[in-house]
Amino acid sequence: MDSVENSRFSVAVTQRQQSRVNQHAAADGRGHPFQGRTMTFESEASIPLLIPQIDGNEERYLRQCVETNFVSTVGPFVEQFEQKLAEVVPEPWAVATSSGTAALHLALAASGVSRDDLVIVPSYSFIATANAISYMGASPWFIDIEPTGWTMDPDSLRRLLHEESYRVDGVLRHKATDRRVAAILAVDTLGIPVRLDALSMIASEYDLPLVVDSAAALGGGVEQPSSNIPNLLRTFSFNGNKTFTCGGGGAVVGYDAELRNALKHLSTTARLSPAYEFDRVGYNYRLTNVQAAIGCAQLERYDEFRAIKRRIFETYRDALADLPGLAPFPDPEWARSSHWLSGVVSDPGEVERLESLRNVLLSAGIDAREFWRPIHNQKPYLSAPRADLSVSENLWRRVLPLPSSTSLSDDAQLRVIETVRKTWR
Ligand SMILES: Cc1ncc(COP(=O)(O)O)c(C=O)c1O
Repeated sequence: MDSVENSRFSVAVTQRQQSRVNQHAAADGRGHPFQGRTMTFESEASIPLLIPQIDGNEERYLRQCVETNFVSTVGPFVEQFEQKLAEVVPEPWAVATSSGTAALHLALAASGVSRDDLVIVPSYSFIATANAISYMGASPWFIDIEPTGWTMDPDSLRRLLHEESYRVDGVLRHKATDRRVAAILAVDTLGIPVRLDALSMIASEYDLPLVVDSAAALGGGVEQPSSNIPNLLRTFSFNGNKTFTCGGGGAVVGYDAELRNALKHLSTTARLSPAYEFDRVGYNYRLTNVQAAIGCAQLERYDEFRAIKRRIFETYRDALADLPGLAPFPDPEWARSSHWLSGVVSDPGEVERLESLRNVLLSAGIDAREFWRPIHNQKPYLSAPRADLSVSENLWRRVLPLPSSTSLSDDAQLRVIETVRKTWR
């Protein structure tokens, strides 16, 4: 346990934080009402999977919203939030939205996706990624992830486009259905960055817009603006379970100034002037000043929170390294992971043992829940076109996220580690 002792970090869960932990008792990992699980967070000793940490300037900024009467989508915090977000990502601009799903929807709309199109997307993601495609009247075309990095596999993408699409009159079409192939939507799975260089090269060869769902990836990335990929759009979520939260919220970030204008326009009901003139069907997707106030306070702690997430990852990684049949989540070399969630992945033959471990953790008051199932097996997407998805099919039952909140105390993390070690002998 030396490595654990050595990498102890000093995030004290104060009494105030503990009472907030308990207030979040009835929330699932996405900050939504929690249904159907027997575990409660009422006991002082329970350890939640992911909860927000709201003990900076949030209260002060929220009071300012009330005192100044700026509680709606107009107000100084929205602009400050967009500026600060663009600075940390970094990209030239950010457009704040009401959720990560709304950000994805807008990014696809601004990328020219339309009814009956296909959008290439990994199946191993949260369902909102595919839902945003459906909101456009388009359909996902599911593709697999890499076995080591868990993000869209560039080799599979190239093969898919080469073998299963054709170009006619300048339009790329899917051979089996003749539907237009309109975009690539990659995902920074759990905050693990996609192979942006390889994916953007393929996107530009096939003249396809590239959108990256970076919902949980803030705090990671390549730390360089994407000026060499001018049409790239990335989306973020600021849901309650993300490292940086607005309560609820999202954003699209990018490089191209015209895309920024298009996104702003679409997110504000496509309004042309104060005189109630509109030029297309737009969306009411702007973030409110109240949400942005929370977001501004959160982004002030950008370096602190990302360092804590890294330490949580390293602590689990080092403390569980000698357990046979268990490995940490991927930590790629090509860009920094945000380590939104840390946890363990079991060998393929250890799925039942992992399930027993999950149950032991749950009965010890440690929130270890089942995680994403591949989207192509979900009811709304059973008939969507798909490539070989054997990596996703093989992976999902083996993934066990462990408590990863920035407010996780040393003692709590040690308790998780000890429970895993005792059970996995
Ligand atoms: C990969 C991914 N995409 C999209 C979303 C949707 O974000 P939001 O909940 O803010 O709509 C999430 C949310 O957790 C997510 O994990």
